[in-house]
Amino acid sequence: MLKNPGLYIHYPWCIRKCPYCDFNSHPIKGEIDQAAYCAALLSDWEAQQRPGDSFHSVFFGGGTPSLMLPIHVAKLLDSLPIDKHAEITLEVNPGSHEYMNFEDSRKSGVNRLSIGAQSFDDQQLSKLGRVHESADIVTAFKRARAAGFDNINLDVMWGLPGQTVDAALQDLRCAIELQPEHISWYQLTIEAKTEFARRTPILPVEQAIYAIETAGLQLLEECGFKRYEISAFAQVSRQCQHNVNYWQFGDYLGLGAGAHGKRSCQRDRVLHPMRVRKVSQPRLYLADPSASVEHSVDPDEIVLEFMMNALRLVDGVDWALFEGHTGLAQSALAAQWSRLVEQNLVETQRCSTTAQGLRYLDSVLQAFI
Ligand SMILES: C[S@@+](CC[C@H](N)C(=O)[O-])C[C@H]1O[C@@H](n2cnc3c(N)ncnc32)[C@H](O)[C@@H]1O
Ligand code: SF4
Repeated sequence: MLKNPGLYIHYPWCIRKCPYCDFNSHPIKGEIDQAAYCAALLSDWEAQQRPGDSFHSVFFGGGTPSLMLPIHVAKLLDSLPIDKHAEITLEVNPGSHEYMNFEDSRKSGVNRLSIGAQSFDDQQLSKLGRVHESADIVTAFKRARAAGFDNINLDVMWGLPGQTVDAALQDLRCAIELQPEHISWYQLTIEAKTEFARRTPILPVEQAIYAIETAGLQLLEECGFKRYEISAFAQVSRQCQHNVNYWQFGDYLGLGAGAHGKRSCQRDRVLHPMRVRKVSQPRLYLADPSASVEHSVDPDEIVLEFMMNALRLVDGVDWALFEGHTGLAQSALAAQWSRLVEQNLVETQRCSTTAQGLRYLDSVLQAFI
């Protein structure tokens, strides 16, 4: 039942903090000792490793991991047990492309890039506090291709301040024109404690949001990007393996400041997940990379946690996966599930939403609280 886990490695620094972002990212002040951070990641690994560990995917996320020197990325990839054909992704901020040696990143073992484009409209990029312009996205993308990357994702956000349907579609067209293998199309959300929560810009009204979403989904579909998760669209066989593992409730190890992990133990043919969280402040993490807070997921919470992940997938999952992770038979949810079926929010045969249910996922999840 237990398949190989994924590995998430967090790099917590950025050139500047974007006003909408609530990731564990800190603006760079002074010199970062990357060698010390890399050594801390390896101590963190030593403290968390389990015998026989081997990772089916690796994801360098941030923050801005494209600011990491390839020599450190290579050192980590050489020191950790990684499956031969693992997907190894590095997130790239296009504003860091001049610091980045794409050839050396490719040589270090990275085989997938995820570029944070957000928008191709310079005025919008400026409102979003981005450190790059539209032209930098195109330059970074072309340099990545020239270095041999044949698996690239572009992150694009929508529902941006004052955005019209035409402007949102124009952003998508610019992304599609570059012919990436994958597009993540995220609706801008206002997160607590961010600059945008304090000074919220004027966002499109609900009707406009509905119109942007409908038109964008159609455009992506027409251009060969198949939606497989709420915000993820891929060309054939180019789904992000690392993220699919999260949504299928698979295990993953998290290394780095503020990283999260989930490791399970199998008892009585049921998987019991344990969540692990590392300290967020880079200074505290560097002082003790082995420190972490662990808590086992309460059996009452598992159904909701499972559904929060699995139902994000357009095709959902088999009920067997639900049974293996929760120790419950599908019939334990019979009452809730049939009410949701009556409302045309979930499918009858699979653990999956309908198109309508995917759009109103929060309402579906209420049934499992
Ligand atoms: C860690 S960042 C990606 C790499 C790099 N830090 C960058 O921004 O270019 C992950 C992605 O999450 C998305 N994101 C971050 N904050 C968001 C928010 N408040 N609403 C929607 N999407 C958000 C952005 O598309 C961003 O590219
Ligand atoms: S560059 Fe990325 S991680 Fe850093 S603050 Fe901006 S969105 Fe967040």
